[in-house]
Amino acid sequence: MGFRARVFLLAAACVGVGLVADVLIAIRFSRWLDGCGTCTTAGKVPGGRAPTAEGPAGLGALLAEAEGWVSEALMDEIDAARIEEHLRKLTEKPHLAGTEGSYSVAEYVRKAWLDQGLDSAHIAPYHVLLSYPDPDKPSFVALLDSDEKELFRSAPREPSLDLDPPADIAGVVSPFAGYSPSGTVQGDLVYVNYGRPEDFDHLEALGITVAGKIVIARYGHSKASRGRKLRRCQERGALGLIVYSDPADMMGTGPGAGGRPVYPEGWFGPGTAVQRGMYLYTNMEGEPLTPGYPAKDYMFRLHESESEPLPTIPAHPIGYDDAWHLLSAMTGPEAPSLWRGGLNITYRLGPGLQASGRARKVRLTVNVNRDVRPIHNVIGVIRGRLEPDRYVLLGNHHDAWNLGGVDPSSGTSALLEVSRAFGAMLKRGWRPRRSLVFCSWDAEEYGILGSFEWVEDFGKILTERAVAYLNVDMAVRATYTLRGRASPPLAPALLEAAKKVPWPVSAPEGKTMYDVWRKRTPEVVGDPDTKPKVDFPRAGSDYAPFVNRIGVPCIDLAFYQDKSTGIQSDYPLYHTAYATFHLQKKFVDPGFVFHRALAQLWAETARSLADGLVLPLRLAGYGAVLGGMLTDLRTSYGKQMAVRGISLDALTSAVNNFTAAAEAFDAEVTAAKITNPFVARMYNDQLMQLERAFIDPQGLTGRKFYRHTIMSGRLYSTATFPALGDAVYLAVNSKEGTEGAWRNVRKELSIITFTIQSAANTLTALELTS
Ligand SMILES: *[C@@H]1O[C@H](CO)[C@@H](O)[C@H](O)[C@H]1NC(C)=O
Ligand SMILES: *[C@@H]1O[C@H](CO)[C@@H](O)[C@H](O)[C@H]1NC(C)=O
Ligand SMILES: [Zn+2]
Repeated sequence: MGFRARVFLLAAACVGVGLVADVLIAIRFSRWLDGCGTCTTAGKVPGGRAPTAEGPAGLGALLAEAEGWVSEALMDEIDAARIEEHLRKLTEKPHLAGTEGSYSVAEYVRKAWLDQGLDSAHIAPYHVLLSYPDPDKPSFVALLDSDEKELFRSAPREPSLDLDPPADIAGVVSPFAGYSPSGTVQGDLVYVNYGRPEDFDHLEALGITVAGKIVIARYGHSKASRGRKLRRCQERGALGLIVYSDPADMMGTGPGAGGRPVYPEGWFGPGTAVQRGMYLYTNMEGEPLTPGYPAKDYMFRLHESESEPLPTIPAHPIGYDDAWHLLSAMTGPEAPSLWRGGLNITYRLGPGLQASGRARKVRLTVNVNRDVRPIHNVIGVIRGRLEPDRYVLLGNHHDAWNLGGVDPSSGTSALLEVSRAFGAMLKRGWRPRRSLVFCSWDAEEYGILGSFEWVEDFGKILTERAVAYLNVDMAVRATYTLRGRASPPLAPALLEAAKKVPWPVSAPEGKTMYDVWRKRTPEVVGDPDTKPKVDFPRAGSDYAPFVNRIGVPCIDLAFYQDKSTGIQSDYPLYHTAYATFHLQKKFVDPGFVFHRALAQLWAETARSLADGLVLPLRLAGYGAVLGGMLTDLRTSYGKQMAVRGISLDALTSAVNNFTAAAEAFDAEVTAAKITNPFVARMYNDQLMQLERAFIDPQGLTGRKFYRHTIMSGRLYSTATFPALGDAVYLAVNSKEGTEGAWRNVRKELSIITFTIQSAANTLTALELTS
């Protein structure tokens, strides 16, 4: 600590210089925040200074802690009726990315932010590859007889419904597989369950090949996203892919599943509802024609044939009423019990159709076009009072496959109320210490494009200045429990905020969000003193570029269903035409009180990050995460590694060094009586940069856009360090070439050891010697 103390003395002497620098930063920084020539701004605060910090701010002002009244006043300000009103407006028309509807929502958000008193709000546009069905030539699946006459054809879209209030279901884009090539294929049918690797392995073991066949798969399972199902079919030589929503996923499983009320009578999914979605095989590269770089006007673009994520065989989604016609006509062995869904048929694997029926072949016709179009992110800013060059970002996407009743407009409505509440605090004379940046992303549904392109565009700035990114996608899909994801250093701030937010209805588990959350989703099941379970933000929504590309700590929040219903999708009507305002108002959150609670949690977490003198990030949790990964490695593979003379001593030492450094750092920060703003700034920089220390600029081996050595997803089922775990898994499970595989293990082991030790060094080594 001696060295640190000396640095502090030196720093203290520089405070005067620092004040000048601070003003310079505020002025230069404002140009970026106010956007570019094509962007509109309003309500600028000259120099970014609030009245309270005007004039020659003394040391006291620079060291001031957050004002106590703001937390409660901010949460009190948030109003359920306003959220409902936003959702009602946002869900009047479809707002698919690249269409007029999505642009109108972007403008709605931008205008709202200016009205609410944000310092600026501008559009950040990019030109990205999108995909749409041909409006005149519907895609379909058909059963053909021996003369190729159609016996059955799938429905072109969900039927419209009489609803109160009315919803423009007919205006919603018809169901299609985003980015599918167009074409017609014809052949036998094979059922592959979810289309996980083990599902294909199982078929292969039975001697059933998908090469030259049309594959039918059911939606669901985290290891089988749409794009991964399709890529696995493509790699195995299939002609095309049909994906359907099984009743097991639309009505759940278990007692009473069959009798659950389906839309428009309830929350569950009818057989006519179809899940849209994109079918890219994405690997964190962002937009498919400009991997790694922002899709700006001048950017070089790949040909579509050179783009790794684009599929080359056609795909189309259908509902379970239509799937019934296909699956009930199939022949071949009975499907294993775990492959059987909720249809009233005998599930069979194929290939082909029953000789007793008239149907002989399946035809898949897809008419889907790809098109480069403009998309529109919206960026709104409340400039920080003392540290304007430190950003706390809050974001949600605004584009939707449908009317957006849940995904994403429930989140957009909450975000608009969070920004309004912050605007109201500005009017009461408060201004956050750091800047708040509100982000409304476009084209998330097409592969997280809007946020990826923006993070690629401003990656250098964000790497240096972003404190945290707080995401909400579908805010309220059900109201059973909170699902909180957080990078380990942010979990303590999230839990603290959850203790302040009331659970919005009376619940036997307790009064606060924290109480109910920890009882319904415990970290340790059966432990009465357990904390809530906090998951990692890995992939899946707009936090992905922040986590995986640049290592900004992230949070992702949503209200979720009771998983015991057996629903695998986010919710049954996910990406169907029936995710309407009516769904929210009648069946999910009629009083919008869960929306309010989520907005309160989001706002308070952001405030705590934007306002305190010392950031509320705490690092010991990362030590626990690394320790857990090390323990898993040792118990799962330690023996096999030892047999090959591979020692875990250095990795163990690095994990121990990190854990000790993180605990010591937390203790020092917590105990510190800070009398020098440079000391606060130094702690804060180390706290917020810790996440960046886990970024390997070269990317994981063979996956260059997965750069986070701890949080990146794994290729195989292990629970340890991603790249090392995958290498060990391959070495242990490979039949030939073992020497090379074990060499890779040694390489990955050394890389992760180095990365963890260098992360530890960021917390200790001022001398550059350790
Ligand atoms: C079986 O399920 C299909 C698809 O949902 C439905 O159309 C059909 O009426 C059901 N048949 C019986 C006998 O329940
Ligand atoms: C852990 O720290 C000790 C003490 O500074 C050092 O000797 C050791 O080399 C470190 N471990 C690694 C893997 O660098
Ligand atoms: Zn979404």
